[in-house]
Amino acid sequence: MLYFIGLGLGDAKDITVRGLEIVKQCDRVYLEHYTSILTCGKEELEILYGREVILADRDMVEQSADTILEGAKESDIAFLVVGDPFGATTHTDLVLRAREQGIPHRVVHNASIMNAIGCTGLQLYNFGETVSIPFWTENWKPDSFYDKIMKNRDSGQHTLCLLDIKVKEQSEENLIKGRKIFEPPRFMSTQQAAQQLLEIVVNKEQERGTGSVHLKPDSKVVCVARVGTETQKLLTCSLLTASQTDLGPPLHSLVIPGVLHDLEADALEMWKS
Ligand SMILES: C[S@@+](CC[C@H](N)C(=O)[O-])C[C@H]1O[C@@H](n2cnc3c(N)ncnc32)[C@H](O)[C@@H]1O
Repeated sequence: MLYFIGLGLGDAKDITVRGLEIVKQCDRVYLEHYTSILTCGKEELEILYGREVILADRDMVEQSADTILEGAKESDIAFLVVGDPFGATTHTDLVLRAREQGIPHRVVHNASIMNAIGCTGLQLYNFGETVSIPFWTENWKPDSFYDKIMKNRDSGQHTLCLLDIKVKEQSEENLIKGRKIFEPPRFMSTQQAAQQLLEIVVNKEQERGTGSVHLKPDSKVVCVARVGTETQKLLTCSLLTASQTDLGPPLHSLVIPGVLHDLEADALEMWKS
């Protein structure tokens, strides 16, 4: 059996009771560690589970999934995911590969940033399509996420912006030369995301003029950091202030509100500094 087990957003103890019971009896335990990060080290998990935890990077999950699935017909394998296994990043690919090989699977869900963002006071019902904001490079500055934010705003909906994570990335030079040398991990902050958005806002203003749904430097945004942990931070401010404010260590997400209901507007006041 292949078990997909969500670890939640807080610390090692956020795993559910059922998830923990299953992990403790699994023959192999993998931790997906390229789409999110834990607040604790893998050693802490190993002590809690009484099991060795094998780190599964993108290459292992996407190129060598058979390593993970090996023996799963006869034994129990756990695939741990920070947050929920099917929140934001879906691991459907692995599910399909397991099915192709006749390996059954079960899922133990947990909290995800996709629902925990409700801590801002914004109604989950009022969110539109979630977007991802990628790290820009000098020559690559994609901005299609801006149009999605505008589409949501057009219909009064809020937008949850998930921010880029780069783990085990090679520099262009090392990639070309085939050198397995990896850059230190990088996690986009709300400050960087807001800076990129501001750059788009300035460009779009020149292209399209200023409309009411368009973002402006003084548009309201909600910055969140380390949701679900002891050091969680929330900040309601302008896009400009967000671009100048450091919310500390990762992970961060940014919300661009659409039309605010009275209760939502009152709730956002709580996070003004
Ligand atoms: C691909 S999603 C990971 C989804 C994860 N499986 C889940 O269910 O929450 C990763 C992005 O979600 C956001 N994120 C995840 N956990 C977060 C947290 N605790 N606080 C703020 N943002 C978070 C960050 O923008 C991060 O780059």
